[in-house]
Order: sequence, then structure tokens, then C-alpha cells
Amino acid sequence: MKIYVPMDSAAKALGAEDVVAALRAAAPDARIIRTGTRGMIWLEPLVEVEIDGVRHGYGPADAGDVAGILDGTSPKALGPVEDLDWMKRQTRLTFARVGVIDPLSLEDYEAHGGLAGLRRAIAMTGQQIVDEVKASGLRGRGGAGFPTGIKWQTVHDADGPQKYIVCNADEGDSGTFADRMVMEGDPFTLIEGMAIAGLGVGATRGYVYLRSEYPDAITVMRRAVEIARQASVLGADVLGSGRAFDMEIRVGAGAYVCGEETSLLNSLEGKRGVVRAKPPLPALEGFLGRPTVVNNVISLATVPVIFERGAQFYADFGLGRSRGTVTLQIAGNVARGGLFETAFGISLDEVVNDLGGGTATGHPVKAVQVGGPLGSYLPVSKLGAQLGYEELDSEGGLLGHAGLVVFDDRTDMLGMARFAMEFCAVESCGKCTPCRIGAVRGVETIDRIAQGDPAAIPLLTDLCATMKDGSLCALGGFTPLPVMSALTHFPDDFARAKAAAE
Ligand code: NAI
Ligand code: SF4
Repeated sequence: MKIYVPMDSAAKALGAEDVVAALRAAAPDARIIRTGTRGMIWLEPLVEVEIDGVRHGYGPADAGDVAGILDGTSPKALGPVEDLDWMKRQTRLTFARVGVIDPLSLEDYEAHGGLAGLRRAIAMTGQQIVDEVKASGLRGRGGAGFPTGIKWQTVHDADGPQKYIVCNADEGDSGTFADRMVMEGDPFTLIEGMAIAGLGVGATRGYVYLRSEYPDAITVMRRAVEIARQASVLGADVLGSGRAFDMEIRVGAGAYVCGEETSLLNSLEGKRGVVRAKPPLPALEGFLGRPTVVNNVISLATVPVIFERGAQFYADFGLGRSRGTVTLQIAGNVARGGLFETAFGISLDEVVNDLGGGTATGHPVKAVQVGGPLGSYLPVSKLGAQLGYEELDSEGGLLGHAGLVVFDDRTDMLGMARFAMEFCAVESCGKCTPCRIGAVRGVETIDRIAQGDPAAIPLLTDLCATMKDGSLCALGGFTPLPVMSALTHFPDDFARAKAAAE
């Protein structure tokens, strides 16, 4: 009997280890295979029992459910997992193997299409590899949406005795977990993507800068790198190609701003994580001053499928200039939260109310914050917006790393605006004045509004304009987005504060 249980940290937090212990005690002969998560967090721990090659789900399971799961009488039976609405409606390209395979079995990885992309890339020149990524339309999934192929071209064309691939795995946005899930559930896809990037731009070394808050991802990635090295997927002779690429995992110390690429590079070099002025771009002067590709986990983890299935296959999904799939992370006050991968173009309404099932509390939705703590709070009237970089931008939003946090009608949006400013004040690296001082003044100004001072509202608007235009990086520059969206879309919350004060 084959039983699959996730070892993803979300599943573990919800009791997966207790379920595994109970399964081992009740069925010592069963083969228990640990996987990543399918992304249906409300069903975790999700136990899957294979019957005639079909995986049947039971969840959310606890140790007390084990007897019923083993004899097939459990009321938590969900039927074949692939037939669940959440699974059927997805286009899983980047996450195709997550929740399916044993993350640390290279054999399992290859049996599910792994390494086919790298083998194809090995037969190509660096320029052909870069052209393939350009043709796929892939854009940076970390948040900015810069075309990945153009970034790679800059590094490919740059002169330098040594070039680097740096993976930004400092996933710090609130409500985001796609990077973690792919690293815990399918680490070889990130390794393969980095190797292809290395062959493409002529870099022989790579680093994954992984946040310390992700201990499970660190363990899985480190082990996966060792396995890949033993199998010559990494090393001096990548899969017998005569070309070299090797990489290592580096752990950050836990600062939000180290997700900004230049402070990440400083931290990687052992320096304080302070933002560097751009130019020079990291593509020209990055790690140790050398040409460096800095890409997010999801961008790099998507590269293998592009090379396995071809650029056109990937580019055929999507909307406008947003090609391929988006890995949505649905969180906050929502009935069904988790990871959902689909072609760009799906509406926010479908994601929140249909897939997500509305709020967990049953109260009406009041706002959805898209794109992390620096994203706008969108009101219900904007839920018709389609998810795409330009489409969301035209609604005053930010797709960012595609995290969605849902809030119900009891949320005080003045409080959320204050939280955004306070977050910026706490996480500011201190390099530039609009952010270092502006965020602190921003908190004070919002407190004045809360105390009923009407003169403070234009002051806040003015301060936000200064931060937006004058900050050196996205932390100070984008904090005005949540603040001003709260003020613009939810003026009653600001007026109510005034009325209450009077
Ligand atoms: P950016 O627009 O300055 O740059 C985007 C990327 O393109 C950078 O890697 C930059 O070096 C590169 N680039 C620009 N011009 C280039 C050229 N000509 N050749 C080669 N490369 C070039 O944006 P930034 O500051 O890197 O990122 C801001 C975004 O980060 C925001 O949109 C926000 O959503 C996101 N973000 C994501 C977080 C996460 O946890 N994933 C956390 C905080 C912010
Ligand atoms: Fe540092 Fe803030 Fe300026 Fe960014 S905006 S460089 S985090 S002080």
C-alpha cells in the first residue's frame, strides 16, 4: 500500500507528523512517501492513498482518522485528488510536480519530466538559451515583472571573468508562500532552472539566498544540492556536457529589505543589508561586482518547463503582456486558502469568491490586498480586475509576487494604512531620507487623523507623494500604495475616526 503525506511546513504545522506516526503504528508495512503540498491548505494534512494507480484524498486528517483512512470508511474521504475542483481548474506548469513526487528523489523527478529541459539546453548555445526565455515571455515573478530573457541577455553580453546566478528566496511579502512551497516540494526544479540560467549567460556559480524563517526549505534545498552534485546535475561537467555549474544555499538573517536585490547582494557578500544605488544594475555589477542574474525562485523554477515543452507552449497561456501562468497565493480571512496556479487573466472576483469561497468568518469581503505589504487595498468594486501586470497596474494595484490577502467588513482601513507605514518604519534600511524619516512621520500623521485632525489628511497625501518619488527602493517607494489606496477607497474609515474623536 502506498500512502502519500506532505512534509511541507504548512502541513507539518497542521499536524502532518502526528498523522504519519499514527499511520506507521497502524500500518507498519505500508510505504509512506513524503511529498510537498498540493496547495489546498484548508485540507491539510491531506493523506493520499493510492488505489489502482489513483490517489484518493482524506483531509484534513488527524491521528484519529487513520483507522478509517486505512479501511476506506473515513468520512473525510474526498475521492481522487486530481478530480477535486481546485486541482481540475488549475494549469500547473511550475507546480506540476509539487505534491506529487518525493521532493528528494531525483529518480521521481526525472520520471515526471525533470531534467528534460536541462538536457535540451545543453545542446544549445548560450544565445539560443537566452532567446528561448525571451520567446516564452517569462517576466520576473518576484514582483517587478521585468522580462527575464532581457535580464539574461544583459548578463550574457557583459564582460567578466566570472558571472553568477543568484536566486532571491527571501520571500518576505505577507501572504506569500509560493517560493517556500516549490523549494520544499520540488527543489530540483529550482536547481535545474539555475543550471539552465548558468549555461545561458555563462555563469558557473550560483547561490540561493534563503530566508532563515524557512528551516524546512533550507534543509530540503541543501540536501537536494548534494544529491544533484552526486548525480552530476551540478559540478564541473553538468550531465556530461563538459560545461560547469555549481551552487550553494546561503541563509539570510531575517530582514525584509534583504529581498531587495542590491541589499540581498550586500548581505550575500557578508555586508550589512543596505540598498545600493542603481545603476549600476546587478546584471552588470552584481555579486562581488561581477555580472549577476538575480531572479526570484518562481522565475527560475519555471525555466525547466519552458525548455521541456518549448517557449511557444508557455507563451500560449496568459493575457496581454503577461504570458504563462501566475502562482496565486490566497491568504488572510478566506474560507479556502492556498496555492492556485493558472494562466494570467483570471479575475480577482473568481479567485476570492469562487475559488477562495469568500471570507472564513462569513462576513462580506471589504478589501483584498494584492502584492504583499506594498500592494494596494482593492475595494469590492475593483474585484472585476483581471490578474496581469498591466491590467492590475491600470486599476492602481500591483501584482507583485501574486499574494492575495482578504479582509472582511470589520477591518479598520485606517488601522491598515497605519500598519503599512509602521511596517516601512520598522523594515527601512535607513539609507534614504524619504523612507527613513517619512515612514515615522507617516505613522504620526495617521495618528493625527485618527485623533480628528483634518489638516493631517493633505499632509499624509503630500508625504506619500514625496516617498513615492524620492525613495531609493521599492520599500519606501511603494508604501504609499497601501496607504493611499486605504485613504482613497475607504474614506469613511478615516472620517469615522475623526467623528469618533469629536
Ligand atoms: P525594478 O523595476 O527596479 O527592477 C526589476 C528587475 O529588473 C531588477 O532585477 C533589475 O535589476 C532588472 N533590470 C532593470 N533594467 C534592466 C536592464 N536594462 N537589464 C537587465 N536587468 C534590468 O524593481 P525591483 O526594485 O527589483 O523590485 C520591485 C518589486 O519587488 C516590486 O514590484 C514588489 O512587488 C517586489 N517585492 C517583492 C517581494 C517578495 O517577497 N517577493 C518583497 C518586496 C517587494
Ligand atoms: Fe532603504 Fe527605505 Fe531608502 Fe529603500 S526606500 S533604500 S529601504 S531607506
